[in-house]
Amino acid sequence: MAKNILITGGAGFIGSHVVRRFVKGYAGYNIYNLDVLTYAGNLENLKDVEGYSNYTFIKGDIVDVDFVQSLFAKYDFDGVIHLAAESHVDRSISDPLAFVRTNIIGTVNLLNSARDAWKGAYSKKRFYHISTDEVYGTLGSKGLFTERTAYDPNSPYSASKASSDHFVRAYGETYGLPYVISNCSNNYGPNHFPEKLIPLFINNIINNIPLPVYGDGKYTRDWLFVEDHAVAIDLIFHKGKGQETYNIGGFNEWQNIDLVKLLCKLMDQKLGRAKGTSERLISFVKDRPGHDLRYAIDASKINKELGWEPSVTFEEGLEYTIDWYLTNGAWLEHVTSGEYREYYKKMYAE
Ligand code: NAD
Ligand code: TYD
Repeated sequence: MAKNILITGGAGFIGSHVVRRFVKGYAGYNIYNLDVLTYAGNLENLKDVEGYSNYTFIKGDIVDVDFVQSLFAKYDFDGVIHLAAESHVDRSISDPLAFVRTNIIGTVNLLNSARDAWKGAYSKKRFYHISTDEVYGTLGSKGLFTERTAYDPNSPYSASKASSDHFVRAYGETYGLPYVISNCSNNYGPNHFPEKLIPLFINNIINNIPLPVYGDGKYTRDWLFVEDHAVAIDLIFHKGKGQETYNIGGFNEWQNIDLVKLLCKLMDQKLGRAKGTSERLISFVKDRPGHDLRYAIDASKINKELGWEPSVTFEEGLEYTIDWYLTNGAWLEHVTSGEYREYYKKMYAE
């Protein structure tokens, strides 16, 4: 019997890589991609899987109670991989309620439907919640986030994700719902919406627009290539221990300013521009409020238990990503027209 898997947020950045991996890699699964298509959701990300007979796109909102219940009744899902979310920290600062709505209420709505539809069949089901390392708050110059680090979120985004993680765990404790959670570090790669650091700066360099580095640029993130995250999600979904959490990271810490300088160097080479051209676009701007100093993940649990590790170095992944953006100008043009221009004006106005 084919397995029916619901993937939420599959038209977004990470979701599209997960959908592609599951549709192409598991012919025996029916993959249902539920996405409401916000500004961040884009079916162009999935053009290559559209025609697969084991793939179905469903446009809809995870917050809609009747709709989500009807989906569980109709498709008898064996598993859920839940990625749908509002995902950008800066947007969460200007509109926290949108994050409460989707990330918390949407997750609880999915949990309710899974709990009710799966009653009596829990042993064959799995609810996999995709989360972020940002729930752990910020590190000083030393230390790593482990699965036992206490939650200490600082932005409305991370607070909403932390809340959703707690609800998933609570449904496991209270109702016995079979779940697994993973908390991953910053992803980068193809199809990344150009509001996050790496794709925003690639787009700005292409267009000779200033590169707005927040504060002194000394903030540190741990970067992971998105396809390596998709591999980790595949492994955890199939082999991860139930009622547990896995941290996923790139073993790859960079201060923003060093990352931006590397990006500038690679972009000058790719665009045939004189050395130092892109670096001259760097502009230090007002800091993000509540800006977390440093994220770094201890990914030894997934490494030891499931044998996972990143497959590419940062330089390889970054070069691949830059090449993708340079050869997918139409994608970039489509996502940066319309609403994006308004967002950019509001966000980066003096
Ligand atoms: P994204 O913003 O690119 O995509 C989110 C997707 O969810 C979009 O396709 C959007 O249309 C959809 N969506 C939003 N609200 C919805 C709703 N109410 N109903 C149905 N669909 C809705 O996000 P992403 O970067 O791909 O992140 C995916 C998940 O991974 C999120 O849960 C995020 O918290 C988590 N995560 C992201 C990163 C990262 O670096 N991007 C790192 C760790 C964890
Ligand atoms: P971002 O890609 O938004 O991811 P997150 O906030 O979830 O880590 O930002 C990564 C880092 O880059 C973070 O320290 C904020 C910084 N940043 C800038 O300096 N300028 C920008 O324009 C953006 C979007 C981010």
